[in-house]
Amino acid sequence: MQILSSIPELRAALKNQGRIVFVPTMGNLHAGHISLMEQASAHGDTVVASIFVNRLQFGPNEDFDKYPRTFQADCDKLAAAGVKVLFAPTECDLYPEPQEYFVEPPAIQNVLDGEFRPGHFRGVATVVSKLFNCVQPAAALFGKKDYQQLMVIRNMTRQMALPIEIIGGATVRAEDGLALSSRNGYLSAAERAEAPRLYRLLNEIRDAVLAGERDTIKLENAAIAQLTAAGWKTDYVAVRQQSDLAMPNALDAPLVVLAASRLGATRLIDNIEI
Ligand code: PAF
Repeated sequence: MQILSSIPELRAALKNQGRIVFVPTMGNLHAGHISLMEQASAHGDTVVASIFVNRLQFGPNEDFDKYPRTFQADCDKLAAAGVKVLFAPTECDLYPEPQEYFVEPPAIQNVLDGEFRPGHFRGVATVVSKLFNCVQPAAALFGKKDYQQLMVIRNMTRQMALPIEIIGGATVRAEDGLALSSRNGYLSAAERAEAPRLYRLLNEIRDAVLAGERDTIKLENAAIAQLTAAGWKTDYVAVRQQSDLAMPNALDAPLVVLAASRLGATRLIDNIEI
């Protein structure tokens, strides 16, 4: 696996490499990332991954500084998963001057996670469009665990007419249901034992909707109450339309139930499609 940090070297290395499939990450790779890398090989000739912890998508009180950085272990996992090229720019490589031009997503950036992480999706859209310009892939994969992020990137790619196929990868879970996430490493042993409650509650909501319950607000509030009783601090539990993350108009439209809640200092997000 070639490891490159400069944009010109990356562009030179990717000439004549056939159909390029790209998986951007912030590193600290787990089985969810590796599953995306493995799926990527089925979609093209050359799998390119990136590792870059993007300051622009972190709020001033978020975990940019303590975000886990495990570069050597990540390289070993990527090479074993068949990745041909790793783009690992420094901040100077990717932002050689202060970034003053941004990709500004529409109103979707202000709901759900966007309401609690102002500027987050603007930072994600900006870095992803910049990474797309560097790698120029034919396809790119993103995990469905970051459901709203996947939607922002899909919509950006369509509206900007970027010739890139966006592919969503299924969420990978631990045996007890907890969605794999780099942030799970922040959990204490007791918090880790408690964490699967979030996924259980999402399943209960999905089952209730499938059984015909129409009062989704009641379901959301009941889940929030259960989380609060178990010591969580919840940002949202929300049943939304898959198409645009708006409140459901009709319950026969495809729905998704999403949640973000904090266990101690760790903010966990998860979702399941109904
Ligand atoms: O999902 C992530 O790891 C990041 O948000 C991404 C897409 C790599 C952009 O920094």
